[in-house]
Amino acid sequence: MKGIILAGGTASRLYPINQAVSKQLLPVYDKPMIYYPLAVLMQANIRDILLITNANQLPAFRQLLSDGKQWGINISYAIQAKPEGIAQAFLIAEDFIAAQNIALILGDNLFYAESLASKLKNIKQIGATVFAYKIKNPERYGVIEFDDDFKAISIEEKPQKPKSNYALTGLYFYDNRVLDFAKDLKPSARGELEITDINQRYLEQKQLNVEILARGTAWLDTGTPESLLDASNFVRTIEERQGFKIACLEEIALENNWIMKEDILKQVQKLNIQNSYRNYLLELL
Ligand code: DAU
Repeated sequence: MKGIILAGGTASRLYPINQAVSKQLLPVYDKPMIYYPLAVLMQANIRDILLITNANQLPAFRQLLSDGKQWGINISYAIQAKPEGIAQAFLIAEDFIAAQNIALILGDNLFYAESLASKLKNIKQIGATVFAYKIKNPERYGVIEFDDDFKAISIEEKPQKPKSNYALTGLYFYDNRVLDFAKDLKPSARGELEITDINQRYLEQKQLNVEILARGTAWLDTGTPESLLDASNFVRTIEERQGFKIACLEEIALENNWIMKEDILKQVQKLNIQNSYRNYLLELL
């Protein structure tokens, strides 16, 4: 299984914060936003990752993440010339995906869920797996409807009258047929290749597996200045209270045995700074 992080788009609701810096490079408390979805892919044991963004922001992502070797992973980069839809990611990534299964995560999706890590390690190899999250105002999302046995029966993108309170999050796992489905897609009324249409195809084939994220889970929005600040405050609260960091990539790499303590020590020695992130890395040792 390989992974894609989609980190382009326009993020107009954040104007003017994102005029010079991509939204997904903005801080969420003590790390750039992109660390959080990257941590999710790493927790799913995915080591081959393609980051897709627009041409002018790509150098900044490369400067931040490099080739991923520092975390025992391979990060490569591709350009989305225009934000023509989330599902376009599969067309851009066709050569990267080749014959493999693929995970896609949106670069602005933040998850905090104890149960997620174990779910991610047991993703089905056939069909699609998506994650539903109960939410008060689902109109802004892909909304999934269930029957009485909690079997998915319909999906709609940003419905005016949602048929349920379950939104689909921006984390998706697909078998290799996603490439054929993506090639078949037509742009929607808003001119985008919709991820919801891909999920619809899997639903029609009765191969859409929907995992419900448990009540104690946080799936955070970062789309507006208010929600961005809320996300930062959330991360700060948890980290200060528990003393653990959320989405510390070195820690996940160490847990996965992809790097060794000596590798972290070398990285720390190169950092000519004193701050809480560096101290946390030292504590890991
Ligand atoms: O966050 C989950 C939701 O994400 C799902 O519930 C929806 O079904 C799905 O369509 C999507 O909805 P959004 O309205 O949030 O999508 P948005 O256009 O805001 O894009 C989400 C992220 O993906 C954002 O960080 C920008 C990036 N993106 C988006 C598009 C359309 C790209 O990099 N390229 C694109 O072409």
